Amino acid sequence: MSSRTKLASWQALQNSATKMKDVHLKDLFSANSARFQQFSTQIPGLLFDFSKQRVDDTVFTQLISLAKECDIDTWRKKMFSGEKINITEDRAVLHTALRNRANTPLIIDGENITDAVNSELAKMKQFVNKVRSGQWQGYTGKAVKDVVAIGVGGSNLGPQMATEALASNADETLNVHYVSNVDGVQIASVLEKLDAETTLFVISSKTFTTSETMTNAQTSVEWFLQTAAEQDIAKHFVAVSTNLEKTAAFGIADENVFTMWDWVGGRFSLWSAIGLPIALYLGFEAFEEILEGAFEIDEHFKNAPADENVPLIMALLSVWNTSFLGYESQAILPYDQALHMLPAYVQQGEMESNGKHVNFNGETVPYTTVPIIWGMTGINGQHAFYQCLHQGNVIVPADFIASIEPQTSVGKHHDILLSNFFAQTQAMMMGVDAEQITADLTAKGKSADEIAELLKHKIHKGNRPTTSMLLDKVDAKTVGRLIALYEHKIFCQGIILEICSFDQWGVELGKGLASKIEAELFDDNISNAHDSSTDGLIAHYKANRKQ
Ligand code: F6P
Repeated sequence: MSSRTKLASWQALQNSATKMKDVHLKDLFSANSARFQQFSTQIPGLLFDFSKQRVDDTVFTQLISLAKECDIDTWRKKMFSGEKINITEDRAVLHTALRNRANTPLIIDGENITDAVNSELAKMKQFVNKVRSGQWQGYTGKAVKDVVAIGVGGSNLGPQMATEALASNADETLNVHYVSNVDGVQIASVLEKLDAETTLFVISSKTFTTSETMTNAQTSVEWFLQTAAEQDIAKHFVAVSTNLEKTAAFGIADENVFTMWDWVGGRFSLWSAIGLPIALYLGFEAFEEILEGAFEIDEHFKNAPADENVPLIMALLSVWNTSFLGYESQAILPYDQALHMLPAYVQQGEMESNGKHVNFNGETVPYTTVPIIWGMTGINGQHAFYQCLHQGNVIVPADFIASIEPQTSVGKHHDILLSNFFAQTQAMMMGVDAEQITADLTAKGKSADEIAELLKHKIHKGNRPTTSMLLDKVDAKTVGRLIALYEHKIFCQGIILEICSFDQWGVELGKGLASKIEAELFDDNISNAHDSSTDGLIAHYKANRKQ
């Protein structure tokens, strides 16, 4: 039996989960006119309303007790102080050190990493300002107009999500194009529009061994050398990596490599030089605003009492919904077009961190450790999958995210957008019952038989849990806050569920097999015996592909 399930709070929550199955949210609201006040909190730039989650006083108290019994406070101190809590890779987890705007010294293995971080930020700032001012010129003396940001996973999602979120604030200095997929159509569609004389490539890869990224990088160099010479590479290619040996072998001079550190996980790295494309596109000041927003949340996470601690509450609600109420997925539904990539970002953050099956001690855990994270902009979802959210027999807890101030104000669009944001969580909570449907259909002149025919099909059971996050506006600081909130949520979930959130051994097998099969596809003289399906698929591909 895992140590977590033996905890008094865990067992109390199991009992509560049984009881809560028969409790309807609309009754909790009817019984407590102050429910919204009780189960919502405000921090700078955000109203966090979790009153439509399936918790009551007892459950919330038990969840807070669970956090205390799991010793979240000690683990949080361990993380911020650089203890090696990434236990299987024996590494610290210090993405917070990248946005330590108080510049408090942090000694790791004898080095004050705050100095190292600030030195790298200074190098980024100098480079960004040179490129954006036109001082950095290409091999024909022209300023950079286009940046091609090559990277995948954590070396892409954070930068691209932040870039998309803030694009409406960008000036016309330069364009940024993200290439993450090894499907050649992506790099080809980017390069065909660009001029080598005015293009800068940023190759971001913590390991500098990721096949997709290295393939895209190689293709970019070959494209570049169609018009330029080897010695011109230094003006058009920079890298972000921990692996100077590999970046040098690729042909990028050390002075053009921005470093990051092993104590920064890929999916938590946009605060490092992995964020270079953001800074190039928006300006270094905007990038610093993103850091400021995250730092604010770090301070909140460190200092707020548990029952007002937003990332901790987010984690407790997720553990409650997933590991106790048994809801296997969680939707991220931004009602801001600017945040359309947030679901994809959170998907990697949560599922690559907590999609694990054993605990710290390698014991198989008996509970679900992570919800399947998915989502899209809420308005589009309303016309795609909300039917399932309202009437499906699966319940999907959802985070609804909107902003008070639009990035772009157009007529009544924002009020219409927000009316949907408010209405949908209300509908998911309230549902609509037979009595209401009968009254509605009667008022529409339907006969008793017609009503009888339709009634069951029109019932919405409601009682679907949601959290509403109402931002002041989507600006650089808010993007930093939002990402940091989810990062600390993920951390808290991992501690509560006793799993290591910071390794990703599960990606190794697929990578290894792909590289083996790659050799077979490159050379017909190489063939490995696989299962009959894989053999059959490879044979069909080889027989029908164009040489
Ligand atoms: O998906 C596995 C992974 O290692 C991620 O954790 C990481 O963000 C991504 O691949 C890219 O890795 P790298 O930055 O080393 O190219």
